[in-house]
Order: sequence, then structure tokens, then C-alpha cells
Amino acid sequence: MIILGIETSCDETALSLIEATGELTAPAFRLIGSEIYSQIELHREYGGVFPNVAKRAHAENLIPLFKRLLEKTGLAKPKAADGAIDEEMLKELERLLEREPTLFKEISSYVGTIEAPAIDAIAVTYGPGLEPALWVGVNFAKALAALWNIPVIPTNHMEGHIISPLLSQTDIAPIAFPALAMLISGGHTELALVRSWEDIKVVGKTRDDAVGEAFDKAARMLGLPYPGGPEISRLADEAREKDYGSPLDLPRPMIATHDFDFSFSGLKTAVLYGVQKAGELSHQNRAAIAREFENAVTEVLVRKTERALIHFNIQTLIVAGGVIANKHIRAAFEQLSRDSGVPLLMPHKDLSTDNATMIAMAGYMKAKDLAAAPADIKDLKARGNLSFGHIDGAERP
Ligand code: KG4
Ligand code: ZN
Repeated sequence: MIILGIETSCDETALSLIEATGELTAPAFRLIGSEIYSQIELHREYGGVFPNVAKRAHAENLIPLFKRLLEKTGLAKPKAADGAIDEEMLKELERLLEREPTLFKEISSYVGTIEAPAIDAIAVTYGPGLEPALWVGVNFAKALAALWNIPVIPTNHMEGHIISPLLSQTDIAPIAFPALAMLISGGHTELALVRSWEDIKVVGKTRDDAVGEAFDKAARMLGLPYPGGPEISRLADEAREKDYGSPLDLPRPMIATHDFDFSFSGLKTAVLYGVQKAGELSHQNRAAIAREFENAVTEVLVRKTERALIHFNIQTLIVAGGVIANKHIRAAFEQLSRDSGVPLLMPHKDLSTDNATMIAMAGYMKAKDLAAAPADIKDLKARGNLSFGHIDGAERP
């Protein structure tokens, strides 16, 4: 089955084509092609991600990316000369893209010039994320589906992150359940219990800042550029290597609480006070604080994960999201896997940040239901607050 993935939930505009085969217990995925446009430079100017700025950038970039994807993968076949979109379809597209004038203009001028490509279904992120940004992807999916008469699979962004390690792991044994997914990125910090691909529940999450967000804020307090995660990590490595002593001790927030929640805003405040007290920061002190911060975050993440591994009798550990680019955090989870004997899956670097390949993969896991009940695409809505149900950490599987 060939699936087109569409991802516009935050600041990456991404499209991907995959071929998916096999049973849901042992799916196999092959990447055909993918295109991604990161809006990071745009948002850097504004000092953060504004939903309507993101929305406009998605709308402007989707068609150029789509064109490139189809051309690179050889799926764009020019239509016969008389093959323009007929009046009725044009009206339908106009209705579906009422809120997306840019998309409507570009779709009707490009998509009408090519034959329907060999795509079996479209998987689109419909939440969670920034609602105006999500809508662009959802409306784009609806328009393509109407045009080519193919189904849309509404896909949860977090399910994408959870399944992301499976692209590079197709030759391993099927995942043993229950699995635990620790999702760490600039937008999310969530522990999910995966009893099967159809049964995913949140068991804990951050009560305030996400891990990546905390890295970025702490970095700003240390006078480092945005995004600060990689900067902190580089300085922390240097401090470890040269054994700089830290001018302050940071707390390990919620490390001993009997739940699986996290809190990182206090840590950020502690960095702020530390920096204020230290006055002018030497390079050494800055690096040493970066190391202490990275250690504090890592210890909390790993300790909570370790507790959940035992509590839920976990058979597979998945760690995903942009923050796994952090070498120290990766190494700590690898150590946890060795110590606990629970196999660890982490996605390839390209699939750790937001992307559409993981959305197409997660869509495949839902495609089974599609035959039974094709989603009425007109009713499909973006859902910014979409969430797996939450189960109380005390509940036993
Ligand atoms: O998944 P992701 O690309 O995007 C969103 O969640 O939107 O994650 C980006 C986050 C940023 O906060 C960034 O600072 C953080 O991941 N990050 C890191 C590292 N590389 C990226 N945090 C710590 N150490 C790193 N090496
Ligand atoms: Zn994400």
C-alpha cells in the first residue's frame, strides 16, 4: 500500500511517500521519498512559533514541496492536453479550500496538469498541535482525496513519534508489548503505555514546560542562541571532558514522586537564580551549569522511565522526539536498557524531529479500520488538543 503522509502540526511542513506491507503485528515500511521545509529561520525572527505565521508558511510551501516529491519519485505523469479539472470538481475544491485561498489557487493550477498518481491513501496529522497550522494539512488532504477519490486517514501526531523507530528496524522481531514510549521534544514530554497499536494511553506528562522547551529557556538564560538544546549539550560535553566544577546545584524536580509526571519550569527558574547570583559568567561556569542542567533533566527522565518499566512490566522501550539528538540523554537511555534488559528502540535522526514519514507509517496502522468504515472526509476536523486517553499511573495493566 502506498501512503502519502502530510504533517503541518507545528513548524515543519512535511510530505512523505512510503510503501507499507505486512500485518500490523510486523509491519514493513519502505521510504519512497520525502520533502520537508523547516520554518525555524522564520520563527527565529519572531522569537517563537506564532500559529498564524506557521499557517501561512504551510500554505505557501505545501504545493512546491508536493510538486518536488512527485517529480523526484517519478509519480508525476503529465495529463493529456484536454485533462483540466472539470467544472464540478473545481467547485468542490473551492468549497473544501474556502479557508485556504493560496492552496486553492496552487492546487487547481498544478494538480490539474498531472494524472492521478499511484497513491492508495493519505495520512494526515489532525492533532495535537497548533490548530490553524493543522487545518492547512487537513484541508490539503481533503482536496487531494476528493480529486483522486482516495481515502484520508486522520492520524495522531504522537502515534507518529511512537512508531517512528520502526522505519529503520524492519528486520527486527515484532515489538513485544506492552511497550513504553518516552516522547521528548520541544513541544511534548509524555510517557505513553502502548499495550498494542490500537491501545495507547498516556501515563504521565509534563505539568509545565516540555524538555526541549526547558533546554531552550535555560540556554537563553545562559546567553546562548536559539534553539538552545544543541548549545547546552555542546557546552555540557566540554565541561565533562575538562571536568569543570559547577558553581551551583540544581534540583531534580519530581524525581521521587509516585506518579509518572514531570515538571521542568522550576529547573529553569533555578538556572535563572544561579546565573543572577554568579554575576558575570565565565565560559567555564557557563559550561558547568549547562552540564548540571543536562544531568538534572536526564536523571529525572531516566528515573521516571525506569519506574514505569517496572510498574507496567514493559517489554519494549521506545524513546523518540527531537531531544534524542542529545548524546548524553541517548546514552543514559541506552544504559537503562542494558541495566533493565528491556530492548530500546530509537528512531533514525531524520525521523526524530517532526516529519511526515512517521505520519504515513502511523496511518498504515489505522488503514485496517478504513476498509470497514471509510472516514467521511467532510467531517474531518483539526483537533489541537487531541490526546490519547490518560490512565492513572496506579492502574495495573
Ligand atoms: O521534535 P523537535 O524537532 O521539535 C518540536 O518539538 O517542535 O524538537 C526540538 C527540540 C528543541 O527544543 C531543541 O532545543 C531540542 O529539541 N534539541 C535538543 C538537542 N537537539 C535538539 N535538546 C537537547 N540537546 C540536544 N542536542
Ligand atoms: Zn512532534
